Amino acid sequence: MAGLGGRKDKGSSSSLSGSRRIWVAVFIGISMGCIFAFFFPHGFFPSYSASQTTHPLSKSNLRTGSSSCESPEKINKLKSDIMGLSDKNVKLEKQVTELTQKLRLADLGKDHAQEQFMVLGKPYKAGPFGTVKSLRTNPTVLPDESANPRLAKILAKVAVRKELIVVLANTNVKPMLEIQVTSIKKSDIPNYLVVALDDAIVEFCESNDVYVYKRDPDEDVDVIAKGGSNHAVSGLKFRILREFLQLGYSVLLSDVDIVYLQNPFLHIYRDSDVESMTDGHNNMTAYGYNDVFDEPAMGWARYAHTMRIWVYNSGLFYIRPTIPSIELLDRVANRLAKEPKSWDQAVFNEELFFPSYPGYSGLHISKRTMDFYLFMNSKVLFKTVRKDKNLKKLRPVTVHVNYHPDKLYRMQAVVNYYVDGKQDALDIFPDGSEWVRNPKGS
Ligand SMILES: *[C@@H]1O[C@H](CO)[C@@H](O)[C@H](O)[C@H]1NC(C)=O
Repeated sequence: MAGLGGRKDKGSSSSLSGSRRIWVAVFIGISMGCIFAFFFPHGFFPSYSASQTTHPLSKSNLRTGSSSCESPEKINKLKSDIMGLSDKNVKLEKQVTELTQKLRLADLGKDHAQEQFMVLGKPYKAGPFGTVKSLRTNPTVLPDESANPRLAKILAKVAVRKELIVVLANTNVKPMLEIQVTSIKKSDIPNYLVVALDDAIVEFCESNDVYVYKRDPDEDVDVIAKGGSNHAVSGLKFRILREFLQLGYSVLLSDVDIVYLQNPFLHIYRDSDVESMTDGHNNMTAYGYNDVFDEPAMGWARYAHTMRIWVYNSGLFYIRPTIPSIELLDRVANRLAKEPKSWDQAVFNEELFFPSYPGYSGLHISKRTMDFYLFMNSKVLFKTVRKDKNLKKLRPVTVHVNYHPDKLYRMQAVVNYYVDGKQDALDIFPDGSEWVRNPKGS
């Protein structure tokens, strides 16, 4: 209050020189403050109410303010402002406490991504031995409907829990698509969408009650789609897939030469950006191993250890709508456009697995290998499973006829064996692609 008085005085006298005037004012102000503090340790007015201790900004405290020389209107305004603020403060505190509690409760049911997002938000200590876990489930992107409003409408209908199977098809692969569609219906999988690359496929889907999406014809990449080889279509799929992720959907991208025997979404972990089927055929090749390279000329150091894993199959992978996932798609599509001779599956794997090195920044993406008995490739089926009386009894989720060129016959045989229970349906085929005799005689 001494301060307030001092400030008031300042304008009233102009006869003293500036700096001297200020020093005198400061000295008087401080002295007055000390004197008042000594003689009136509880303030000017002893008539405080008992409630004074409830809050430092409570009404009773503010009453003293009215004794200063400020205009009463200003003081009242200040008073109400401060009271409003303190009320808001109390309310905010309450809200924060409630929110914190709600968040703690939500903790129990929320997905990994949110959990990790929260952890990222504040610094934390490492914790005891054996308890630390690194981040692998990235938060999903905010859905951007403007990426493709027409597709957004279709996906809202087709997707289940923001997930769906997506398959690209043109007329060249229609017979395989027919087998796949039949297997999808048999397995009661509702969230299945065909991206039709020509009108014949649109018609096929519409007449078979299959969700279909035909891209707008003016899109430049569609030049590839028209009667394109399987190879050209592979490059296109990375471009198309991006829009699905931008719209906030997780996609199980599927080739047409895959038979569905169970609902795959019951067997997805959802903890990684990419969860992919493997070309591996046992634990080592599918999940990774230490391959020792031998160079006898090096003598004592003849053994060099290498890390090996059979490639991921880019014909069947589950991809979450995250930034690393979208970056992966962009990188692959970009390289396929620039390197026309490259193989999309090789590029897909190089982008997934190669580390950063001088001059190159590797992708920071999390990945998971699918169970090779559940998401089975045709080598596993024809080399191992069909010859093993226990493995024969297991029902895979999908069978991908990726290792054999006679895809249509083997797909049909897989259906005959697993769906129709024809026990000898697989027996006629050789392990590899060599044919002694064509079963259909064609
Ligand atoms: C392969 O790995 C699985 C776990 O992923 C394990 O249960 C199984 O015993 C392993 N098989 C062999 C032959 O090591």
